[in-house]
Amino acid sequence: MQKTILITGGAGFIGSHVVRRFVRNHPGYRIVNLDKLTYAGNLENLTDIENEPNYSFVKGDIADQEFINELFSRHSFDGVIHLAAESHVDRSISGPMEFITANIIGTVNLLNAFKEQAGNNEGKLFYHISTDEVYGSLGSEGLFTEETSYDPGSPYSASKAGSDHMVRAWHHTYGIPVVISNCSNNYGPNQFPEKLIPLAINNILNSKPVPVYGKGENVRDWLYVEDHAAAIDLVFHRGLTGETYNVGGNNEWRNLDLVKLLCKIMDRQLDRKPGTSAKLITFVKDRAGHDMRYAIDNSKITSALGWKPSVSFEEGLDRTVRWYLENEKWLEGVLSGDYRDYYHKQYTER
Ligand code: NAD
Ligand code: DAU
Repeated sequence: MQKTILITGGAGFIGSHVVRRFVRNHPGYRIVNLDKLTYAGNLENLTDIENEPNYSFVKGDIADQEFINELFSRHSFDGVIHLAAESHVDRSISGPMEFITANIIGTVNLLNAFKEQAGNNEGKLFYHISTDEVYGSLGSEGLFTEETSYDPGSPYSASKAGSDHMVRAWHHTYGIPVVISNCSNNYGPNQFPEKLIPLAINNILNSKPVPVYGKGENVRDWLYVEDHAAAIDLVFHRGLTGETYNVGGNNEWRNLDLVKLLCKIMDRQLDRKPGTSAKLITFVKDRAGHDMRYAIDNSKITSALGWKPSVSFEEGLDRTVRWYLENEKWLEGVLSGDYRDYYHKQYTER
């Protein structure tokens, strides 16, 4: 039977990899990609699949309840894979309200519309994509498990924690079928150059300083974006209703070590003298409330669903750097806003 799946945030970094994977690997599904096309959403990420018969795009804002209700009256969605969100911690520190609106109100609008439509819930699923940041910050020991208490530190992570709670409340109270996954830091092609890895690549490419917050001692657990998309595919099809799955790469790096490795790869790929890029590393003022360490225990998804990361960090970083060097036009398009203006003109909101 053909299913109709709504993917929100499909023009963004992770969402575009998820949309591509579902359009290609599940030709029996009709994929509807809903995205507001903020600065982070860019349909240039999906030109290779935009004409596939099982794909369509709708421009719109999940925080607009009337629009969401109208969309759900036009389509009967069997599943929702919800990625749309404001996603950058630094932006949440300088402007938290957009995060509350998109991440909390937006999620509740989708839950309400889905609740009205779900009927007897047969074959339906609301899948919420979340972050390991909801668990707060670790010291030098330990890992986040699915049982770790929530302790979000930034406006971004608090808004994601709020949305996770809403999803669980709609399951508990109204009985809608939900599943949640909480993932560690993703990297790979198509990530907006404000996040550490693409920002550093872009700055090294242009011989600009590479800002490292504080002493560069904070630790993140990195996962190649296609491995996350594979985990999402698996959880959507085989995850148990009401469950949470942590997703992570078992791949912890101190920021400074990561940036130094990136500098080496950039020197090699740009044919620069070894040590050239590392000279650009510049220590800057720390992020307010900067979480020290994130690290995921991924044993539940590994043992219950058989998922494991398939791309090593060296291979993933090498591929990522190559992609950015081969796609300088993409970098210029997202940074100048030219793509955004172009695609906004192509689509009207209703
Ligand atoms: P991103 O910023 O690259 O993309 C977000 C997308 O959502 C964009 O296309 C944007 O246009 C869209 N969007 C934002 N507000 C919207 C709104 N109000 N209505 C409709 N669309 C809207 O983000 P990402 O890094 O791809 O993250 C995707 C999801 O995964 C987010 O929910 C994020 O919290 C989660 N996540 C990200 C990471 C990571 O490392 N990037 C890790 C774990 C979880
Ligand atoms: O853990 C998952 C989260 O990872 C996701 O939920 C978020 O959406 C995603 O943005 C990411 O959050 P981080 O804050 O960890 O990612 P960011 O790339 O912004 O920063 C990674 C680390 O690098 C962090 O310790 C801050 C530091 N940093 C970041 C930037 C942008 C720097 O030292 N310099 C920088 O210029």
